Amino acid sequence: MRTLKPQDARRIETLLERMTLTEKLGQLTMMSASHSVTGPVITGHSTGDIRSGRIGNLLNLIGAGAAREMQRIAVEESRLGVPLLIGLDVIHGHRTIFPPPLAETALFDPVAWALTAREAAREAAADGINMTFAPMLDVSREPRWGRTVEGPGESPWVGRVLAEAKVRGFQGTDLTAGDSIAAVAKHFCAYGAVTAGREYASVDISERTLLEVHMPPFAAAVSAGVVAVMPAFTDLAGIPMTAHAGMLRGRLRRELGFEGVLISDYNAVAELIQHGVAADLIEAATLALRAGVDIDMVSGAYLEGLPAALERGLVSHAQIDESVLRVLALKARLGLFEDPYRRGATPESAAALAERRRLARDVGTRSIVLLTNRDDALPLAGALRRVALIGPLGDAAAEMRGPWWCAAPPDAQVSVLAGMRAALPHAEILHASGVDIAGADERGIAAAVQLCDRAEAVVLCLGEAATMSGEAASRAHPGLPGRQRQLAEAVLQRAAARAIPVIAVLFCGRPLMVPWLAERASALLAAWFPGCEAGHALADLLTGRISPSGRTPITWPRAVGQIPLYFGQRSGGRPTDPSGPFSSRYIDESNAPLFPFGHGLTYGHFALSRLRVTPESAAPSATVSVLVDVENQGRRRGEETVFLFTRRLKSRVAPPTLELHAFGKITLDPGARATLTLRLPLAQLSSLGPDLEPALESGTVEILAGPSADLASLLTVRLQVVA
Ligand code: NOJ
Repeated sequence: MRTLKPQDARRIETLLERMTLTEKLGQLTMMSASHSVTGPVITGHSTGDIRSGRIGNLLNLIGAGAAREMQRIAVEESRLGVPLLIGLDVIHGHRTIFPPPLAETALFDPVAWALTAREAAREAAADGINMTFAPMLDVSREPRWGRTVEGPGESPWVGRVLAEAKVRGFQGTDLTAGDSIAAVAKHFCAYGAVTAGREYASVDISERTLLEVHMPPFAAAVSAGVVAVMPAFTDLAGIPMTAHAGMLRGRLRRELGFEGVLISDYNAVAELIQHGVAADLIEAATLALRAGVDIDMVSGAYLEGLPAALERGLVSHAQIDESVLRVLALKARLGLFEDPYRRGATPESAAALAERRRLARDVGTRSIVLLTNRDDALPLAGALRRVALIGPLGDAAAEMRGPWWCAAPPDAQVSVLAGMRAALPHAEILHASGVDIAGADERGIAAAVQLCDRAEAVVLCLGEAATMSGEAASRAHPGLPGRQRQLAEAVLQRAAARAIPVIAVLFCGRPLMVPWLAERASALLAAWFPGCEAGHALADLLTGRISPSGRTPITWPRAVGQIPLYFGQRSGGRPTDPSGPFSSRYIDESNAPLFPFGHGLTYGHFALSRLRVTPESAAPSATVSVLVDVENQGRRRGEETVFLFTRRLKSRVAPPTLELHAFGKITLDPGARATLTLRLPLAQLSSLGPDLEPALESGTVEILAGPSADLASLLTVRLQVVA
């Protein structure tokens, strides 16, 4: 409550004193609305429950009119007039859809990360929304897990930077402003480590992994001032996060200093029964409240269970009041008491919407990763007369949104077909889907393949439907679904016979295991889901209007059996030696990824040289400069991204092979050469000792810089840390 103005603190204390138990529990309850033809419907409840104070918060309400009406009932018709929190999963845009977080992470551009969140907040706030269940900060080294698409990828350090940018973007500099919304950092904690990548499954990881990998992005969100956090659905070594007092009250509140609201995931309080730690709603509500969960999202356990829990002495009035005060404080910080209608008051101008779509195109283009480009197959030659656009994602406008599309209408997205036609007005774009995304019907393959005979190049659009990643979308076979491989093989064969290039484009929310395609396509792109301007964004790259610059924020394994595969692994005592039998390797697959973290080509060809660090010896409190020369030896302008890793040569705890600490970008014309300088505050090199306490040990640290986490591509220099 330290952040509240004195008059707000008084207001909420007074309100609390006047509240009945039902009204208090209403503040601790968020119910789901959905929009019917006649207006908003609150699942299992009525607007009368807002009037009576039984429901104090809503989610899934879309439309400024509906939000205003619900807010009006709460403010003008309920006894105490407490405004509602109105939340929605505004994950990567509201009406204007940007690429989903994993794709956006590929930009490695914190300014852009903040900007898209800012614009999403503006659009959502214009619809009366005052809270988003974002950012999702779950580090994932698990391509099988569908929710990988919602997060920052495999690096905890990237997760930190993204967390900071997103919180700043959503919440703005003034949380009371009409275009700022409350951010909810989720899902605390380690949801990305679900067993075998299976959605909602148990998490059982070491304390060290929890602290080194999964907590840092949340710590960054808290430092950035995030006002709410959502515990994960999952259990951590047997204790469901919704009931995990040690994690919520201990690590999050006491250790990280989080003072905001803890809001459960959807129905998660009642699901404590299903977890097997509560017999009924009374016990479930007791466990969650005691653990520090303030708001029960939709389960009704607080409303139904807490009165009996109070009577039985399982919880106290003080515990309930503590949570109510936190919720009221958040409403005050959002400025809802001063003006509950500030958000949703002004419709957005056409100019603002057009500007936002321009941003979506820019970010969409920059999120796409050029994975291979044999013999500079891309960009396409300018004078093409006929291009075959083949595959089930070629004319699939709605899929371009990816998961969590909020209020974005399916037809407001630009398909690849539309984008290509606009970009190549003098060329004929021959189109055939060939197969469905996931069906078993192969009858369309022959006709699609025939298009190769009339075309000078093939663009093959393959991958997942938007709903095949995101929540409840784990895949045991994260390759091409349905009969897409059959289509691709047939197209590759025909195109090879005709000596025309095949540009394969993958739409996906995760790395797909397609080594065969990477080997045979002339070029391969990970387009992820590029958002509402998808077709234009992709066409900008294919035609060479813009040089690709996206870098994969997650390692692409070659085979499911390699998972988890990530750059931060420890080498062990018998590190990989492809020629030695007793080393850490597979006998039937290489250890190498299909594409390492950070990989991504441009139309320039960059060479890095002369890596140096200054000073070469420094105290832990110092910041050193790492310099590297970058030269564009190619024939086209391009943007190079350089990653700065470190490797501790000796430590009390076996160090990861690589730790990421910075990245930088430089754009160079053909033949140009420049020096890129990256700053490395040595405090970042602190690591957890055997006692799990952070310490910065003296000694030699290798600094490695290069275009990806592929060890062979990295330049190395040494630094002495003198503690
Ligand atoms: C369940 C998801 O796990 C969570 O991320 C989301 O915010 C809630 N549903 C609300 O839609």
